[in-house]
Amino acid sequence: MAVLTEEINRRRTFAIISHPDAGKTTLTEKLLLFGGAIHIAGAVKSNKIKKTATSDWMEIEKQRGISVATSVMGFNYKDYKINILDTPGHQDFAEDTYRTLTAVDSVIIVVDVAKGVEMQTRKLMEVCRMRNTPVIIFVNKLDREGRDPFEILDELEAELKIAVRPLSWPINIGAKFKGVYNIYEHSLDLFTPSKQTISSRVEIDDVNDARIDENVGEADAAKLRDDLELIEGVYPEFDVNEYLSGKLAPVFFGSALNMFGVKELLDCFVEIAPTPRPVHAQEREINPEEDAFSGFVFKIHANMDPNHRSCIAFVKICSGKFERNANYKHVRSGKMMRFAAPTAFMAQKKNIVDEAYPGDIVGIPDTGNFKIGDTLTSGEELHFKGLPSFSPEMFKYIENTDPMKSKQLDKGIQQLMDEGVAQLFVNQFNGRKLIGTVGQLQFEVIQYRLLHEYGAQCRWEPLSLYKACWIESDDAEALAAFKKRKHQFMAVDRDGRDVFLADSNYVLQMAQNDFPKIKFHFSSEF
Ligand code: G4P
Repeated sequence: MAVLTEEINRRRTFAIISHPDAGKTTLTEKLLLFGGAIHIAGAVKSNKIKKTATSDWMEIEKQRGISVATSVMGFNYKDYKINILDTPGHQDFAEDTYRTLTAVDSVIIVVDVAKGVEMQTRKLMEVCRMRNTPVIIFVNKLDREGRDPFEILDELEAELKIAVRPLSWPINIGAKFKGVYNIYEHSLDLFTPSKQTISSRVEIDDVNDARIDENVGEADAAKLRDDLELIEGVYPEFDVNEYLSGKLAPVFFGSALNMFGVKELLDCFVEIAPTPRPVHAQEREINPEEDAFSGFVFKIHANMDPNHRSCIAFVKICSGKFERNANYKHVRSGKMMRFAAPTAFMAQKKNIVDEAYPGDIVGIPDTGNFKIGDTLTSGEELHFKGLPSFSPEMFKYIENTDPMKSKQLDKGIQQLMDEGVAQLFVNQFNGRKLIGTVGQLQFEVIQYRLLHEYGAQCRWEPLSLYKACWIESDDAEALAAFKKRKHQFMAVDRDGRDVFLADSNYVLQMAQNDFPKIKFHFSSEF
């Protein structure tokens, strides 16, 4: 087999997503332990912004160093090369998470058995659904009291709008939790609380094996058999193609903290999770096995060194082999570029790499050349799709408070928007600039960074808006009529596209009713 094909086939690039506190960091750490990427528990520092620090920008700044290190975690497990892309836990950084999801081939969702599906999980699942991303669900914290597993399955199905199929099944939960029956491999794993070691496995022939009774007691063994019978009756046989097309989510149960059920998850994951998938560019579909290199920037991490305004652009490799010091085309500028110090992320260390393959992420040191969504290729003009911005929900006018620094302010705003920190709109009625975000924190981040990185000062003026949405119509007259009627509420985005600023849900609904020829879009990609 050609080297490229072989390298592609052994790659699994995915993200773990969850509502804060469900156990994403803990699970990530345990997976790294299996890969030998780290050796002790507690080594992965959470990159989440702790709840207590909701508005504490300095705290975030401190954590930024940590989050670069954990942005991408690569490790080898068996013959596989696994890349975990980290996503910020804090909901104000949801937009960052959405973009990261464009760079993965599959997702593991962690759900707390006591809390079930929470708000953030629901939102992230919507993004997965838009892209038909295959998902595996890990129901966590079985060592704690929680909800009935059947109830959890129903909730997952209803709330995440995806069919589910348990591939492992818990024997009791909480204080009476005894272990997990692995439906996928037909084995029984007994639970012994431990944060470091793997619990014992009992070899069994099938679900009727008397060794189950010996190990968990007759009553629990009987209950397990009843449950499994019910599962087989209710849920169709697991079909890997249904999973790969994003229609069915296999479900595992366990306890990340106790490292229980994690190996089963990982073993099944490497077997069934997709290898790097074809990527859609505006021009055509790009197959990972094409010889020519292509990749796109899905994340920019700025301010590595405040004195030099240095960034790292994270490039997901989509096809071909990436080589250090080769000449690649930066499609937006049309310039050829060479990268002398691209980094890869292995075992939590950043190292300069000579080559990388589809599915891998390379970090490219940058001084402001890159924008989110930029494409690099061996020469072809390709523009990747699928890096949407979502309708922001919080808005403020941005005002310059130091007239001597207006150039710096403009440059700063432009670069921060390129990085995808927030979205800039210009109100067509009064010509004022407004910034839209998904969370309050972004306003603090912007103000702080404008001052510290660009020497510019700004002030915010509150603006009560419900949503900004992109509008278009095939009917030019209808569009003109809409814009005339709503002229006070029309803005343009950075690409000059029309945006309607709705000040309430009611107004938005009325507009949709009154102007049937206008299409309203809630993400920038349509
Ligand atoms: P997150 O990244 O999804 O936000 O969650 P994280 O892994 O940080 O886990 C949130 C809390 O849940 C942590 O406790 C963690 O120890 C705990 N946890 C994770 N998995 C399990 C599990 O299987 N069982 C139990 N009982 N707890 C689990 P914490 O007290 O908030 O943090 P820490 O001080 O322990 O780090």
